[in-house]
Amino acid sequence: MEVPKSLLFFVLAAATLSVAAAYDPLDPNGNITIKWDVMSWTPDGYVAMVTINNYQMYRHIMSPGYTLGWTWARREVIWSMVGAQATEQGDCSRFKGNIPHCCKRTPAVVDLLPGVPYNQQIANCCRGGVIPAYGQDPAAAVAAFQVSVGQAGTTNRTVKLPKNFTLLGPGPGYTCGPAKVVPSTVFLTPDRRRKTQALMTWNVTCTYSQHLASKYPSCCVSFSSFYNDTIIPCPKCACGCEHKPCVRSERDTKRLAVTGKHTDHSHGRQHATAAAMLQCTTHMCPVRVHWHVKLNYKEYWRAKISIANFNYRMNYTGWTLVAQHPNLDNITEVFSFDYKPVVSYGSINDTAMFYGLKYFNDQLMEAGPHGNVQSEVLMRKDARTFTFKQGWAFPRKVYFNGDECQMPPPDSYPFLPNAAPAIAAAASASSLVAAVASLVVLFLMGCA
Ligand SMILES: *[C@@H]1O[C@H](CO)[C@@H](O)[C@H](O)[C@H]1NC(C)=O
Ligand SMILES: *[C@@H]1O[C@H](CO)[C@@H](O)[C@H](O)[C@H]1NC(C)=O
Ligand SMILES: *[C@@H]1O[C@H](CO)[C@@H](O)[C@H](O)[C@H]1NC(C)=O
Ligand SMILES: *[C@@H]1O[C@H](CO)[C@@H](O)[C@H](O)[C@H]1NC(C)=O
Ligand SMILES: *[C@@H]1O[C@H](CO)[C@@H](O)[C@H](O)[C@H]1NC(C)=O
Ligand SMILES: *[C@@H]1O[C@H](CO)[C@@H](O)[C@H](O)[C@H]1NC(C)=O
Ligand SMILES: *[C@@H]1O[C@H](CO)[C@@H](O)[C@H](O)[C@H]1NC(C)=O
Ligand SMILES: *[C@@H]1O[C@H](CO)[C@@H](O)[C@H](O)[C@H]1NC(C)=O
Repeated sequence: MEVPKSLLFFVLAAATLSVAAAYDPLDPNGNITIKWDVMSWTPDGYVAMVTINNYQMYRHIMSPGYTLGWTWARREVIWSMVGAQATEQGDCSRFKGNIPHCCKRTPAVVDLLPGVPYNQQIANCCRGGVIPAYGQDPAAAVAAFQVSVGQAGTTNRTVKLPKNFTLLGPGPGYTCGPAKVVPSTVFLTPDRRRKTQALMTWNVTCTYSQHLASKYPSCCVSFSSFYNDTIIPCPKCACGCEHKPCVRSERDTKRLAVTGKHTDHSHGRQHATAAAMLQCTTHMCPVRVHWHVKLNYKEYWRAKISIANFNYRMNYTGWTLVAQHPNLDNITEVFSFDYKPVVSYGSINDTAMFYGLKYFNDQLMEAGPHGNVQSEVLMRKDARTFTFKQGWAFPRKVYFNGDECQMPPPDSYPFLPNAAPAIAAAASASSLVAAVASLVVLFLMGCA
């Protein structure tokens, strides 16, 4: 059945728009919550346990880790911290004798590095600020520290909640809502025979938006297949080409003694992120995902997925790859990667999260000879839907580390020899109608 081109363009435009929205259809409940539990009152304030839970299914906070900032409501100070530290002490000149850990009105707190002495540690601290995604490792998707606050209220009526929470994880992209007093957390004692309760608890919810994080995508996708020699490359300048320096070879990276650290002074907080040093490519993306349709068996087919790093200054630790394809609900075997289904709408399991095997390929090394990881996925054909025609065998969406990757234009997909150059994305009119309907629903949800 012929599909009107204009309708297709509408679908594509809508799909592109979804990148910009904070709402993530694959992870609608994904957020990071920050919980403060006041554990005791002190003569001039309180001691609080701060817990950061990453409830995002496939977006982790990778090295160099989180930076949590806020603005004190009054003239509070931090007397001491366990399991984290403020990056700057600020001006404590008004204090004599005991000097606080931090006197800034807008403290920025970072995790401690692994291996600090035991007496500076606390459960779930000291991992260099790395927080795995909930879908990857729910038990580890948490970070915590203890803070002793002075010059604050000393009852649950006089404490003023900190304002303006900010979360950087290694870069921008998160927006945090206001702190809200919630029912006090109940704790079980270690022997599980007694319950205790926080004196007061407040929560903050932060959500991620790729659009806020960066104007351009941070990864792109290329395709190839056993049935057609053409390699469909990443779109040109998929990650933006303007004013982007790049290096031609590994040797050049050593010659270019560019200063590596870039300091973001916005909001008065310091956050050092290594500026990218990209290998020159036509797409100018730090990461490229290649999907190769490799083999066709009677009842199965096999795709090879490779991820290449083009940034000489970044090792992606604990990376994640999310792919959406109608046959991913029939994965039979995944080689060299781990994987989990991403249950997005609760009904269709067409999305899978892949990640590296611990101590084997869970680190995507910096650009160069070791800067790639790969896997093969064996899928059982579903007779009702399976086809090599019209680019069906290629993924609909790909995310690397939680950011949506730029796909090749749909009319460029490799097609079967002798096949009509049909538009690849238009599998059938009925699925197109379904796609339009679901996009409209998503759009309405995004507006709500
Ligand atoms: C944050 O995520 C949790 C877990 O998915 C969910 O229960 C909660 O409603 C979310 N909060 C907000 C404000 O979206
Ligand atoms: C507060 O955050 C914790 C996790 O950090 C969560 O379990 C709890 O449900 C949240 N409470 C509210 C009322 O959002
Ligand atoms: C919160 O941050 C914004 C932007 O950084 C700033 O304009 C605003 O004044 C801050 N509010 C408080 C109470 O500090
Ligand atoms: C504050 O403490 C009183 C008792 O001391 C309690 O009744 C009240 O619920 C507490 N309020 C909050 C917000 O925790
Ligand atoms: C990446 O990891 C390797 C091996 O652990 C190390 O030699 C290299 O310096 C790291 N590169 C960066 C940019 O951190
Ligand atoms: C989707 O996957 C989940 C987890 O594996 C499973 O419980 C659920 O039944 C699946 N749904 C369908 C429709 O296959
Ligand atoms: C593929 O998975 C779906 C949902 O889990 C199931 O209904 C269907 O029978 C599977 N198809 C094959 C060929 O295994
Ligand atoms: C392979 O696919 C491309 C479109 O991407 C097409 O131009 C070319 O003709 C195809 N090759 C063959 C042998 O059909």
